[in-house]
Amino acid sequence: MAVLEAVRLGMIYPNGTRAIKDVSFSVEKGGSCTIIGPSGCGKTTLLFIFSGLLKSTEGKAIIEGKEVTSPPKNAALILQNYGLFPWKTVMENVALGLEIRGMKKGRARNAARQILERLGLEGFENYYPKQLSGGMQQRVAFARALAIKPRIMLMDEPFSSLDALSREKLQNFLLELWMKERLTMLLVTHSVEEAVFLSKKIVVLSPRPGRVIRVIENPMAGRKEYRSMEEFFEKCREVRKSVGAI
Ligand SMILES: Nc1ncnc2c1ncn2[C@@H]1O[C@H](COP(=O)(O)OP(=O)(O)OP(=O)(O)O)[C@@H](O)[C@H]1O
Ligand SMILES: [Mg+2]
Repeated sequence: MAVLEAVRLGMIYPNGTRAIKDVSFSVEKGGSCTIIGPSGCGKTTLLFIFSGLLKSTEGKAIIEGKEVTSPPKNAALILQNYGLFPWKTVMENVALGLEIRGMKKGRARNAARQILERLGLEGFENYYPKQLSGGMQQRVAFARALAIKPRIMLMDEPFSSLDALSREKLQNFLLELWMKERLTMLLVTHSVEEAVFLSKKIVVLSPRPGRVIRVIENPMAGRKEYRSMEEFFEKCREVRKSVGAI
């Protein structure tokens, strides 16, 4: 069964800008799908619709069989600018999602501590986001997302502001997480390599208004070694061709 489904989604903003048109695709349970396309083609719009933060003007976004009308409980959202509250500490940022869901403060903090440790952030619980590097802030954003034990991760260019090394490390982390926890992922990226490394399905959008030009299957994704295999470079070439970069 499809966990995520876009059914002829379209979005015209109130000022008349059409961001996307007739976008359909689906992601199976435990699958990973990347949306790739030129700047302004409606990728963030699409992700916001799935996150329940934006109502589409046409079609439907469906998560686990239900049309999305409000932020879905089982999905975590990770944004490009980390989405952390600057006035809250690392601990408070990570525990917040749990407290909002009704967990008592003490338990929420314990759970947050465990996940921070897993992401190599122990010792930084009382820091504020601006006292951390970009890569660390991004890990805090992941910690916050993972603390709620989501079944689905929605991510909008989560690595775009990181240096190449931190980016690769976090990509590996996400890959492991995806494999271990059987998460279903929907990722937006500008990076062909990231798309090929992290997803079994790549949906290529046209320039605005975004429409699906191609859906590329990438069955080899899912292991760390893929990055250095000949098939990986082949697939990158294929995707790059579809997005019009070569
Ligand atoms: N609130 C809004 N009101 C009007 N138009 C908007 C709004 N938000 C986005 N748009 C327009 O919709 C189009 C798609 O925007 P969106 O942010 O979804 O693109 P994107 O593919 O995520 O771009 P990028 O790769 O640069 O992040 C753009 O032309 C943008 O100007
Ligand atoms: Mg965007």
